[in-house]
Amino acid sequence: MPCQIIDGKACAQQVRAKIKLEVDKLKVRGIIPGLAVVLVGNDPASCIYVRNKERGCAEVGMKSEVIRLPESTSEKELLELVDQLNARTDINGVLVQLPLPQHINEEKVILAISPDKDVDGFHPYNVGRLVTGHPSLVSCTPLGCMELIKTTGIDLTGKRAVVVGRSNIVGKPMAALLLQQHATVTVCHSRTKNLAELTKTADVLVAAVGKANFISGDMIKPGAVVIDVGMNRLESGKLAGDIDFAGASQVAGWLTPVPGGVGPMTITMLLYNTLQAAAK
Ligand code: GUN
Repeated sequence: MPCQIIDGKACAQQVRAKIKLEVDKLKVRGIIPGLAVVLVGNDPASCIYVRNKERGCAEVGMKSEVIRLPESTSEKELLELVDQLNARTDINGVLVQLPLPQHINEEKVILAISPDKDVDGFHPYNVGRLVTGHPSLVSCTPLGCMELIKTTGIDLTGKRAVVVGRSNIVGKPMAALLLQQHATVTVCHSRTKNLAELTKTADVLVAAVGKANFISGDMIKPGAVVIDVGMNRLESGKLAGDIDFAGASQVAGWLTPVPGGVGPMTITMLLYNTLQAAAK
C-alpha cells in the first residue's frame, strides 16, 4: 500500500475550528479565554513563534497579551511578573517563551507558573498528572502528535511504539501519552545501542532528536505510522525533519511531512490547552 502523507495543516484547521466553537460558547457565558506570552530578549526564532501564537489566538477568538521584556530582565523581575499573571482573572494561560537568557533559571520560572495556567504543560505537577494517568495540561507538541496519530484511525492498544528523543518537552511526555493509549513504549536516545534494531520494531515511530534526516527508510518497519517532530534548518535554508522523507515514504504506511506535519499542531494544542484552562 502506498504511504499516506498526514496533513498537519488540515488537521490543525479542523481542531482550530472546533476550538473556535467552544470559545464562542464560553463568550456567551461572558468568558473570553486569555493567554499571556512572555518573551525575554530578541531571539529571532522565539520572536516568530510568539507572533504565531498571537495570530493563533486571534484566529479562534481568544485574547492574547504579549509581554516583551529586554534581555537584561532579572530573574526576580520575571518571577514577579509571573506572580502578577498568576493572579489575574482575565488571563487563563501563562507561557514564558524558552529559551531564556543564561542568567535566568528556567526551572525556577516553570515552577513559578500556576499549574492551572501552565498551558505549556511543563510544570512538574502537570507532568506528574500525565505520568500517573490523570493528564490535565499536557505539553503541546506531543499532544499534537497524538492528534495526528488519531487521524490514521489506528488503535494503539498493544502496538509497539518507539520514541527517539528523551526531552522533557517532547520525548518523555510523548512516551507517557502513548502508554496512556496502551501502546508498548520504548524510548531511545543518543546513547541507545542498536537504534535501527529498535526502530524497525515500531508500529508507531516518533522522531524528536533534532538531527536532519537522522532516521533513514531502512530503519522503519513497513506500514508503520511515522511522526517527524524535527525542524532542522539546512545550510541551503530549507527545513528538514529528523526523518529522511524520501526514503521513509517508500516504507512507512503513514508519514508526517516537514514542514506541514507536526509544526501546525503545536500552536493549535496551545490554543486547546488555553481553552481547557479557561473552561475550568
Ligand atoms: N520554545 C520553543 N518551543 C517552546 C514551547 O513549546 N514553549 C515554550 N514556552 N517555549 C518554547
